[in-house]
Amino acid sequence: MILRNSMKLSLAISLALLTPAFSQTPVRPSVDSIATASGFGGYAGFAAPGSYVEIYGSNMAGTARGWASSDFTGTTAPTSLDGVTVTVNGTPAYISYVSPKQINIQIPDSIPTGTVPVVVTYQGLPSAAATLTLNAQQPGLLAPASFKVGSTQYVAAVHGVTGAFVSGGNIPGVTTAPAVSGETLIFYGTGFGAVTGTKVAGQIASGQTALVNPFTMSIGGSAAIVSYAGLAPSLVGVYQINAAVPANLAFGDQRVLTALNGIANNMQTLFLSVGPASNASVPAAPTIVSVTAGNTTAAIAFTGDSSSTQYTAICSTGGATKSGSGTASPIIVLGLTNGTPYACTVTATNATGAGAASAIASVTPSLSNSATYNTLWIPDTITGTTFNLTLKKTTSQLRTGAATNTYGFNGANFWGPTLIMNKGDVVQMNVTNQLTDSTTSHWHGFHIPPVTDGGPHQPIAPGETWTPSFEVKNNASTYWYHPHLHGKTAEQLLYGAGGFIIVKDATEAALALPRTYGIDDLPLVLTSRRFLSTNQFDLVTDISPYGDFLLTNGVMNAQVNLPAQFVRLRLLNAEVERGFNLGFSDDRTFYVIGNDGGLLDAPVAVTRAKLYVGERLELLVDLSKDAPGAQLDLKAFNGGQTFGFPGGEPAQSGIFGSQLNNKTFNVLHLNVTAATGNAITKLPVALVKNTYWTAGDATNKRTITVTDKGPGTPFNFDNSAYSMDTINQKVTLDAIEAWTITNNRTFDHSIHIHDVQFKIVSRSSGPLSSYEQGWKDTVQVPLNTSVTVVAKFEDFADVVNPYMYHCHFSNHEDEGMMGQFIVVKP
Ligand code: C2O
Ligand code: CU
Ligand code: CU
Repeated sequence: MILRNSMKLSLAISLALLTPAFSQTPVRPSVDSIATASGFGGYAGFAAPGSYVEIYGSNMAGTARGWASSDFTGTTAPTSLDGVTVTVNGTPAYISYVSPKQINIQIPDSIPTGTVPVVVTYQGLPSAAATLTLNAQQPGLLAPASFKVGSTQYVAAVHGVTGAFVSGGNIPGVTTAPAVSGETLIFYGTGFGAVTGTKVAGQIASGQTALVNPFTMSIGGSAAIVSYAGLAPSLVGVYQINAAVPANLAFGDQRVLTALNGIANNMQTLFLSVGPASNASVPAAPTIVSVTAGNTTAAIAFTGDSSSTQYTAICSTGGATKSGSGTASPIIVLGLTNGTPYACTVTATNATGAGAASAIASVTPSLSNSATYNTLWIPDTITGTTFNLTLKKTTSQLRTGAATNTYGFNGANFWGPTLIMNKGDVVQMNVTNQLTDSTTSHWHGFHIPPVTDGGPHQPIAPGETWTPSFEVKNNASTYWYHPHLHGKTAEQLLYGAGGFIIVKDATEAALALPRTYGIDDLPLVLTSRRFLSTNQFDLVTDISPYGDFLLTNGVMNAQVNLPAQFVRLRLLNAEVERGFNLGFSDDRTFYVIGNDGGLLDAPVAVTRAKLYVGERLELLVDLSKDAPGAQLDLKAFNGGQTFGFPGGEPAQSGIFGSQLNNKTFNVLHLNVTAATGNAITKLPVALVKNTYWTAGDATNKRTITVTDKGPGTPFNFDNSAYSMDTINQKVTLDAIEAWTITNNRTFDHSIHIHDVQFKIVSRSSGPLSSYEQGWKDTVQVPLNTSVTVVAKFEDFADVVNPYMYHCHFSNHEDEGMMGQFIVVKP
């Protein structure tokens, strides 16, 4: 789904209302005004069965919240929420949101048309009756205010393939493109509840798949083929219509008319912008603009026909052919032979078929290309058992012109030193905050008492030093430290505050693995930034979820020399939101040896591995067959991912756009040098013996559901936004628990649980990825899937101090997608 959390759609519900102090004498609720579906249904002044209505007044409820799935009986929505009921003409309405000042209802079935009374009852006291005009059944398509361009109101529809909105104008922060004749669009609406059918109007919970009554739509006067008309699978209370745009429509704005059960909706005047492409023909041949030779690669930039949905580039020499594909320019072709001239063409495809190939452009890939690289920064290390860290404001010269304001620990101009610890040591941490703002320092992945965890409850005031001490109980692996001040995590991370922790233990030490830090064992933190014209990070408008320039260890266009042997890369995704689909420029096989919380049983061979925010992967890469002087690139193959992959959005600018989105881009350029003396040249067959939890080990189960208060509002869990004062889960010490995280909300998320390392035991989407079978503290939860993880909550009970669980997209976390749990003695 595409109704992203920064779009201020009118379905969004005001969150700011707080519970008034409990009063002894109940006060009669009063209704001041009723707003009908004008904001989102586009038919002002009328309500119909199934449509939403907002009631404004006072003393109408004691709490402020939206409905939760636990409020539903089967598939029927609640007619009473926290003691609040609303009747429309004496019939209980479905209540989707209550607060003292606003109640949202959905109009029930079997209510006569005309003017009817609406009564709110709370604490046994009914309000005076307010009136509402009820229309006959009126299908209302969503037409939010932001989709009005000038005086033309566009219907909210999305392209089924790209996920971008269809619109006649440019809506800030939203990717839009005109509709193309013949393609299937997804429309959203409300008020499609049956009037005379057998189902209640509030057919709003999950489980319903189709409307009982036939729905018809015409676009530009021609009938659209409706292939689905039912509940939106991931949006409670919203209907979804999938319909094909009629063929051969004239370009421009076309009127959209709808009817349900033969009753036309005459309340909406909505338009759909139809674009310049026609499905009657295949796309025109693309025009190649430039071809950039790389090391065994060619990047082919071109312009194409706007009807094109897919491009394929082919480079051939003699009989040998290599190809690459994508949805936008440029296309990267991999696996070419250096020094050999290739003839390359690009072909475009649309729903009708493939068009003619472009003119030929030639290219000779070569080792030395024109890209300019900067030397990778390797953080300093601190060893021993006392770790002194000082966080300060500083600057980093990232681009020509002004230096960029950044944060760094211990004099680093971005990020901080790598702390090297031994399992079993008791360590003393001394964290000094020299910022002008409070911060915290969280030891991500560590199994330590909650008071030492460094979450939102352990703030460090400016000028103060925080001095927790704990035993290192974790396995050898790659962890990290970062700020966790609620509401400020994204900002402080964006400025660069963070660092690696490498834990060593005897089991790992006994293996023949690369472990010379900075030589054949490198930590790599990946993140990206958007710059303002002043060269400062863009923290001004909104926290940009995606930067335009990748920083690898804080360096743009980073390169590193690596010896011709097995090398170990410890990758950390410290982005706000972007995921990385990692691989090498020559598509070589590499080996995942470790997940977040330790080594795997054995290396896992892959050519791609996805890394979401907060996750770590330890890789071995075999450079032993690369001659000194050879070059290759670690890349992110982020083009063409399924919708929901963070950073797969097609837009190049705007809130959810970025110059790196939906593209293949370099993460690190590798220059192979001579092998070192103690080179590792063999892949270990086995690593460590792990005994993982299974689903059957769980002594308790719980579910965590990704929710929000409607399209356009911030994400949260189980319908409540994070509060420092609320304990959301209580876990018994030594319990082995299965947590099932369900995500039917808008986009992928990356979910992290403090205190534990867990085992992913199942995914609703099918088998786990081969490289996520080890100990984890952060898990990818793609859109419309659920995942179950099992962990033991041992050693640290504390009735007062909670641990956090949250989405590690720091913008989501800061906006409330976080909860707290305490671990208590039985
Ligand atoms: Cu990486 Cu709750 O944190
Ligand atoms: Cu953490
Ligand atoms: Cu999230």
